[in-house]
Amino acid sequence: MLRRCITCFAALISFGGAAAAQNLDSLLARMTLEEKLGQLHLPTADQRATPAHLALVRRGLVGGFLNVFGPEAVREAQRVAVTESRLKIPLLFGLDVIHGYRTIFPIPLAEAGTWDPEAAEATARVAGREARAAGVNWTFAPMVDIARDPRWGRIAEGSGEDPYLGSVLAAARVRGFQESILATVKHFAAYGGAEAGREYNTVDVSERTLRDVYLPPFKAAVDAGVGSLMTAFNELGGVPSSANAWLTDTVLRREWGFNGFVVSDWTSIAELMKHGVAGSRAEAGRLALQAGVDMDMVAGIYLDSLAPLVLANRIPMALVDSAVLRVLRAKARLGLFADPYREIPSPNASEARELARRVAQEAIVLLKNDRALLPLARNAKTIAVIGPLADNRLDLLGPWHTQGRAEDVVSVLAGIRSHASAGVKVLYAPGCGIEDTSRAGFARAVAAARRANVAILVLGERHDMSGEAASRSSLDLPGVQQQLLEAIHATGTPVVLVLMNGRPLILEWAAERVPAIVESWFLGVEAGSAIADVLFGTVNPSGRLPVTFPRSLGQIPLYYNHKNTGRPPSATDKYTSKYLDVPVTPRYPFGYGLSYTTFSYRDLKLGSARVGANDTLRVSVTVTNSGMREGTSVVQLYVRDEVASVTRPVRELKGFRRVALKPGETRSVDLQVPVSALAFWGLNRRFAVEPGSFRVFVGPSSAEGLEARFEVVD
Ligand code: NOJ
Repeated sequence: MLRRCITCFAALISFGGAAAAQNLDSLLARMTLEEKLGQLHLPTADQRATPAHLALVRRGLVGGFLNVFGPEAVREAQRVAVTESRLKIPLLFGLDVIHGYRTIFPIPLAEAGTWDPEAAEATARVAGREARAAGVNWTFAPMVDIARDPRWGRIAEGSGEDPYLGSVLAAARVRGFQESILATVKHFAAYGGAEAGREYNTVDVSERTLRDVYLPPFKAAVDAGVGSLMTAFNELGGVPSSANAWLTDTVLRREWGFNGFVVSDWTSIAELMKHGVAGSRAEAGRLALQAGVDMDMVAGIYLDSLAPLVLANRIPMALVDSAVLRVLRAKARLGLFADPYREIPSPNASEARELARRVAQEAIVLLKNDRALLPLARNAKTIAVIGPLADNRLDLLGPWHTQGRAEDVVSVLAGIRSHASAGVKVLYAPGCGIEDTSRAGFARAVAAARRANVAILVLGERHDMSGEAASRSSLDLPGVQQQLLEAIHATGTPVVLVLMNGRPLILEWAAERVPAIVESWFLGVEAGSAIADVLFGTVNPSGRLPVTFPRSLGQIPLYYNHKNTGRPPSATDKYTSKYLDVPVTPRYPFGYGLSYTTFSYRDLKLGSARVGANDTLRVSVTVTNSGMREGTSVVQLYVRDEVASVTRPVRELKGFRRVALKPGETRSVDLQVPVSALAFWGLNRRFAVEPGSFRVFVGPSSAEGLEARFEVVD
C-alpha cells in the first residue's frame, strides 16, 4: 500500500559482471601507491569542496567526500575527478541521510514503532531518491544498533531493543536506500552497549550477547546486500572497533561473506591513539587497515601516514590493494564509471509528504486513554493547546534532519487548527520553553486550560537532546515542564499529554494521573497533521513500542528479552531478583500500544507441536475487533526455549503481523517461523537450534498473549 503511493523506479545500483571486475583489476594495476591510498581517503567538507580539496582530487588523492551535496557542488567535484585527475576515477558522495533528505520522515525509533517493514522500505526509498537527485550517492544509514539503555541518545536513530524487529527493519531500509544510493550499516559493533548510556563509552559484552543480540541486524543488512559498513567509536572488550580484525575480518567478511567495503567512523582511526592502542598516527592507520577498515573517514591517516609503512613492507601491498578494490567495486556498483554524473529526478514532493503523514500516523503509540478521553469529543468546543513543543516546528524534525526545513513542518497547533471544525475555539499558550527554569508563562497556560474543555499538552525534548553526543542522566521532562503539567492538571480540565522525545522517558507521575498519553517521538514534516489525525480520531493509533519504558532510572537497563535468573522475582520470597523500592516490571512494555478499539485473541493453534530443525513452525490465532471502530492490531509472536545448553531469554520476538480489522470482524491470522530462526550461540560456540521444549506466546505485546508448547525434535 505504502509502496503504491511513490512511483517505483528500477534499481539504480547493481553489481557489474566479470568484465567490470577485470577492468577494475587493470585500473588497480595502473595506480601508484599514493593514488591507491587516495581512494581510501574520505575527507569532509562544508557542502562544497574547497579549492584545496579540489587540488587533492586533481592529484587522484580523494576517494570520495562526506558532506559535499547539492547537484552543482557534486558536479563540480566529480568533473575535476573524472576529467582532471590522471586516472579519472569518479568520487563517492556520502551524507547522513538517516530519516529523510528534504522530506523528513519519523525518526528511525518512531518508525520502528510502526512494526511495518514496508513503511521503512518506502521512506528509505524516497530519502535515497531525494538524496540522489541532489548528487548524493552514498548514505550513512541504516543505523542498526540495539539499544537497551535510554540514557544513550542514539537510541533515537535505531530500531530499539529487539534483534528481530531490528533485523527486519534493517533489511527493509537497505532495500529502500539501495534502489538509488549505497547504504551503510552502522556502527559495527555493539555501540549501543555503552556503559551507563554515556556516548562513546566502553562496551564490554560477552561474545554470546554480541552474537545473539547486537549482531543480528548487521547480519540481516549484509544478507540484504548492503554496500558498506561503518565501524563504531567504542571499544569492545578492550579492542576499539576500528581496529578489531575479529569483527571486520573474521565475522563480517569470512563468516558472513560481506563483499562491500568498510568505512571508519569520523576520525575513529585517529582515536585509536586516545583509546591507547596506537602510539602514532601511522600505527593507528596500520592497525585499522590490518583489521579490514578500507576507508578512513576524516582522519586523513591512510593518506598521510601509510605509504612509508607499505614501502618498508610493514604493510603488505596486497592489503592496500584489496581495500582499494572494494572501494572501486562500490563505485562500479553505483554505475559511476559508466556515468559519473548520473542524475535522477527528485520524487514527487506531495507524494513524499503523503507517505510522511501515513508513516507518522502509524508510528504514534497511544500509551494511555482512560475513559476514552481520546479521540476528542465532538462537543469539545474549546481546546487549549499548551506546551513548548505545541507550536514548535524545528524540533519535530528530530536529531538528523539533513536538508529538512522547519518551515516545511506542520506543528501540532497548526494540525489541530486545521482539523478543528468551525465553531471550535483553539487557545494556545506555550507555558514555558523546553529547558526553561522560569514559570513566568504558567499563568497564561493555566488560564487557557481553565477556559477549555480539554487541554492538549505537548511536552518533551529538544531535537538535539537525542542523537549523537546527547546522553542524559535524567529521563524526566526537561526544565519546568513537569511542573507545567502538574499546574495544568490541577485545573481539573482533562489533559491529553502528547510527548515528543527521542528516547523513552520516565513518566510515573503522568502515567498515574494524566488520563491520556500519546507518544509521538519526532515525526518529521507531517508530525502535526498525523498527531491531529489521531487526536480527532480520523486515524486509529496502531503504533507499538519498539523499546521498553522503565518506571525508574534505577531499573536501567530494562528490556523484555531478559534472562530468568536462578531466582526470578517472587512477591513472597525476599531472596529473589528484584528491588525493594520499585517493581521489576516496566511502566510500558516492549510491543505495547493501545487503540481506540479493542481486540481479543483466542484459539492459538500450532500446525504441529513437534517440528524438526529444518521445518517451519506454523502458528495461527483468531483475532477479533471487539470494539466499535476499525483498527489495526500488531499480532506478536514470541518464543521461549525452556531448557538449553546456555540460559535463554524469557521471551524472544520471532514474528509479527499488522492486522487491520473492521468493527466486529474476526480473522484467523497465520504466522510462520522457520525453526532455524530459533538458533542461538550455544555452549559449543556455534549457532544451532537445540532440540527440546519451547513455549510460544501470541498476543498484543511482550507482556501478554496466549500460550502453547512445542517440541523441536532431532
Ligand atoms: C559520526 C557518527 O557516529 C556517524 O553515525 C556519522 O555517520 C558520521 N559522524 C558522519 O557524519
